[in-house]
Formats: sequence, structure tokens, C-alpha cells
Amino acid sequence: MARGSSFTVGTIGAGNVAQAVARRAAAAGHRVVLSNSRGPASLALLVERLGPLASAGTVADAAQADLAVLAVRWHQVPDAVGGFPAWDGRIVIDATNQWKAPGVAIDLGDQTGSERNAALMPGARVVKAFNTLFSRIVVQDPRRADGNLVVVLAGDDAEAKATVSAFVESMGFAPIDIGDLRTGRLMQVGGGPLVGQHLVKLAS
Ligand SMILES: NC(=O)c1ccc[n+]([C@@H]2O[C@H](COP(=O)([O-])OP(=O)(O)OC[C@H]3O[C@@H](n4cnc5c(N)ncnc54)[C@H](OP(=O)(O)O)[C@@H]3O)[C@@H](O)[C@H]2O)c1
Repeated sequence: MARGSSFTVGTIGAGNVAQAVARRAAAAGHRVVLSNSRGPASLALLVERLGPLASAGTVADAAQADLAVLAVRWHQVPDAVGGFPAWDGRIVIDATNQWKAPGVAIDLGDQTGSERNAALMPGARVVKAFNTLFSRIVVQDPRRADGNLVVVLAGDDAEAKATVSAFVESMGFAPIDIGDLRTGRLMQVGGGPLVGQHLVKLAS
């Protein structure tokens, strides 16, 4: 459970995005549980590099954290989330992008990527975030001389979005809530205007 403003953050996936978020989360004092398909032992070196607040677990361990970050490649999502049936009420930060190949987005028709992913995690409270930013930028301190790097987010559950906003803010990012998962289309690869935009909210 979250204690004050301190969260346990689970990552489903332990690659570029998961490591970037994990690094920032640990730097902000949050506990981090990383997971991948190969099991905790394969993450020993990474965990050591991330420091004492990091540990390795199973996907189920990561999914049961206060906040779970879904950070696997698009084609890996069904396998990654399929083995954990108890999503009910859990907050999942969906950082994925629906790439078919580099630079080629999958056309989901009327559905957004996060709506597709939410359907694979029945009952989860999915918040789209971090997918618009390059991991090599996320890993850096988001507090800039003139303001804070923006994390745009979208989701259907107001309380989940408030929790994710608090988490994002605790790491020094500036959260901007743009609306529901459907509005999250603006954050989606294949034409969303917010993709790859690294915006700074100027200090007032
Ligand atoms: N890279 C970026 O800058 C960036 C930015 C924004 C969004 N994104 C999106 O974020 C997602 C992750 O990107 P990435 O660059 O971090 O990918 P990545 O470096 O390839 O990492 C993917 C991770 O997922 C793990 N994984 C694969 N299958 C799994 C499963 N069944 N269960 C649990 N873990 C599994 C992989 O580890 P094992 O193979 O060892 O299991 C690996 O640790 C993608 O959807 C991408 O489009 C990427």
C-alpha cells in the first residue's frame, strides 16, 4: 500500500522504459519491483545497479504493486498480462505503443491502444502515460532550469489519474491530464500530435 506519498511501483517489462521509470522512481524514494518473462534471477544485475529500493519479482508481484507500469512491446502485451487474472481495481500505467515495425503503427480502427490493453486486464484502472516520451529523456532528472518535463496522461478513472499524477509529480515531472482513454488518441503513435513531444511546463 502507498504510505503517504511513497509508492511501490511494479514494472511489467524491464527494458528501456521500465528502467527509466524505475530509476526516477527509486531516486524519488519509491520502492520498485521489476519483472520480465525470464524470472527474477535474470534481473539481479539490473536491480543491483538501481540500488536498495529496487528488487526483482514475478509479473504477478509487479502487478500487485500500488502502481504497475506496463512496459513491454506491443506484441508482448497479451502474454505479459494474460497470466495475472486479478486486475480488479489495480492501477496500471500503460506506457506501450502499438508499433508493428519501427515507425509503422498498427491501425486499431476506432479503438485506442490503451482501450485494447484495458480489455486484456479486466477491472484494471488503466492510465496512459510515459508512452509519448523517449526513455533516454525519462531517465534524466525532469527538473530543468526553467521548469519541469511534462508527462501527459489519460484515463477513465479520476482517482487512478490523481494517484498517477501524484506519483509523476513526486519524481519532478509536471503531469497534464488530457481526459479519458478515448482522448488518449492524441498520445498515440500513428498520428497523435503529442507523440515524441518533450514539453517543459515553465515554472510560474
Ligand atoms: N524505448 C522508448 O523510448 C519508448 C518510449 C515510449 C514508449 N515505448 C513503448 O514502451 C514499451 C516498452 O518499450 P521498451 O523500449 O522498454 O522495450 P524493451 O526494451 O524491448 O523492453 C521490453 C521488456 O519486456 C520484457 N518482456 C517481454 N515479454 C514479456 C512478458 N511476457 N512478460 C513480462 N515481461 C516481458 C522484456 O524482457 P524479457 O524479454 O527478458 O522478458 C523486456 O525487459 C513498448 O510498447 C514501446 O513501444 C518505448
